[in-house]
Amino acid sequence: MSNITIEQMRFWSPEVRELEPYVPGEQPKIQNLLKLNTNENPYPPSPKVVEAVQKILANDADVLRLYPDPDASELKHAIAKQQNVAAENVFVGNGSDEVLAHIFKAFFIQEQPLLYPDITYSFYPVYSQFFGVKTKILPLNENFEIVVDDYKQPNGGIIITNPNAPTSIALGLSAIEEILQANPDSVVVIDEAYVDFGAESAVSLIEKYENLVVCQTTSKSRSLAGLRVGFAIAQPHLIAALEAVKNSFNSYPMDRFAIAAAVASFEDQKYFEAQNAKVIASREKLVNQLNELGFKVLPSSANFIFASLPSKDAGELAAELRECGIIVRYFNKPRINQFLRITIGTDEQNQRLVDTLKNDILA
Ligand SMILES: Cc1ncc(COP(=O)(O)O)c(C=O)c1O
Repeated sequence: MSNITIEQMRFWSPEVRELEPYVPGEQPKIQNLLKLNTNENPYPPSPKVVEAVQKILANDADVLRLYPDPDASELKHAIAKQQNVAAENVFVGNGSDEVLAHIFKAFFIQEQPLLYPDITYSFYPVYSQFFGVKTKILPLNENFEIVVDDYKQPNGGIIITNPNAPTSIALGLSAIEEILQANPDSVVVIDEAYVDFGAESAVSLIEKYENLVVCQTTSKSRSLAGLRVGFAIAQPHLIAALEAVKNSFNSYPMDRFAIAAAVASFEDQKYFEAQNAKVIASREKLVNQLNELGFKVLPSSANFIFASLPSKDAGELAAELRECGIIVRYFNKPRINQFLRITIGTDEQNQRLVDTLKNDILA
């Protein structure tokens, strides 16, 4: 964008000139790179996913002539079964980023402001600007926790990431219920992108609260970031608003490969549970090793940790790790500019991180 002149920008819609887009974590092509910066899963998806995609290519490639099911109903049923809800409670989209975009459009353009914490998923301010959503940002406390009482004020909606990103800290279901009960007239969205790594899901509350939307993704715990499959779970009157937005934007967001592969993933619960257990065990091991090196690590319920090293500037540390071929995420933002967000890799990858820190950077 830097080499576009103001003169050339006269063709752009005025509001697009003002946009401050989200900046995704880098995907560099460096050899022997250890990528611990975008919270991808270090393990491949279920072998059943691979089989499902191969089956389309081997037997049914001709179906690619045809549009996919606009409702992706096979996928909705597979998600419903795994989540123990009805298919009418499920909305699917091209990654949970798209589901979240539809959520902002469907629910949050209100007179009163949307409430969310100062430290959270950095797409929320981007969508707020994009859709003209008013916002009120509420600081986390000094331990980087949500202050539940702050969410008991007039608002046009609430969105909370649980466990939070990039802090990795989980909020209990009783706190979420307290927020739901205090806000019977606004939609409360719980973004559970990382919930499978140790937090309690609010999906169990869907039947009880007509104002709750839970958003999840297959990108992290199902190793399908490359497929782009996200979903929301809510009562049918909220799902209907999301469908109305989706069908006013792109009626076929889920392609045939994505539908078939994600269905196979939801049907292979055993693989899903085993991979998540491995990531959680690796996380605990890595936290212990980093503690021994002097790091302070926030309590994580995610597939990443948020860590600081009091003796060293976090920005410098990220740069030095990069020179050693290890990329972690550094946010040069108030309150968190002395932290690194580190994705949990395999035990071998985590060991390379620890060895590099010990032998090359902190020696
Ligand atoms: C909190 C949170 N929500 C949503 C997403 C989007 O995930 P996806 O669009 O891959 O489903 C991410 C991705 O990093 C995230 O961290």
